Amino acid sequence: MDSNQQLLKNIAAQLMANDKGLLAMDESTATCNKRFADLGIPQNEEYRRKYRELIVTTPGLEESISGAILFDETIRQRAKDGTLLIDILKNKGIIPGIKVDEGTIPMAGFPGEKITEGIDKLPERLKEYHEMGAQFAKWRAVITIGQDLPTATSIKANAYLLARYAALCQEAGLLPIVEPEVIMDGDHSLKVCAQVTTEVLHAVFNALYQHRVDLECMILKPNMVLPGKDASAQNSAEEIANATISCFLRCVPAAVPVIAFLSGGQAAELATQRLNAMHQMFDKVMPWKLTFSFSRAVQQPALEIWKGNDQNIVTAQKALAHRAACNRQANRGEYTA
Ligand code: 13P
Repeated sequence: MDSNQQLLKNIAAQLMANDKGLLAMDESTATCNKRFADLGIPQNEEYRRKYRELIVTTPGLEESISGAILFDETIRQRAKDGTLLIDILKNKGIIPGIKVDEGTIPMAGFPGEKITEGIDKLPERLKEYHEMGAQFAKWRAVITIGQDLPTATSIKANAYLLARYAALCQEAGLLPIVEPEVIMDGDHSLKVCAQVTTEVLHAVFNALYQHRVDLECMILKPNMVLPGKDASAQNSAEEIANATISCFLRCVPAAVPVIAFLSGGQAAELATQRLNAMHQMFDKVMPWKLTFSFSRAVQQPALEIWKGNDQNIVTAQKALAHRAACNRQANRGEYTA
């Protein structure tokens, strides 16, 4: 094993240690502003900075969170006292990571489908982030379910970009998080989501193999297999756990050390219950470590308490630490609420 591979494996091992999970706090400026707008929070750099300071200074966050994914703006920001936010994380023993895709745009020729931008000049950007202290990276691809969607071409194009990105990260000494997100929008059934997720994961692992990505030195960040959010039949946590883990057992090679879920717009408690059910039902058969890399399912309750008001910071931080702790309990199959 060469030293770069050993280094990347060590990062993965640290991220999955002690049943902790990742916190995705890498919302782009546009996404963060949209969440702020929904709650009447001013949409400017200072409020985004304050919010990210609230997150990284949350007491006890490090008890449940092993790594935090940052956005380009955030990795450069400082707390009120002048300390870089990334240094606050490092001092708590939380490993910093960075979102390196540049968001999605409509895919030309494929109405209703998206493609991710950011592959041009990626090596230079990875080098800069590595020098700034990031140890892992994230790239998100979006797959939409709809009438005759997704197309095979969009799946293939998105898988190709995930593989190119992952290969470049490994070369740069950053552990890649590979995130193919089959989104929840629509009224499709659990079965349809399982079929699409299966197809997407096969395409992604085929592309990773062809691009000589070392599967032992990456994290997969998938969606749970869920019915569409407008589907008439919603399934139990056990049915979702069964559909999700059955799909992964068929599609995700055992060499992958960690699978860390996105939450995708699920209510915070539901995401935790479903993660908990997976651990209760399948811990003995899963070859990979299963954890969370949630954004909304950890942050949303805290954001709704904070609302941009300094007086609410302490309560918001308690809510954030609580959701993170609940998800860590779920990683042990011990979540009860
Ligand atoms: P959600 O958990 O809100 O889906 O966000 C996770 C993420 O990192 C999306 O890229």
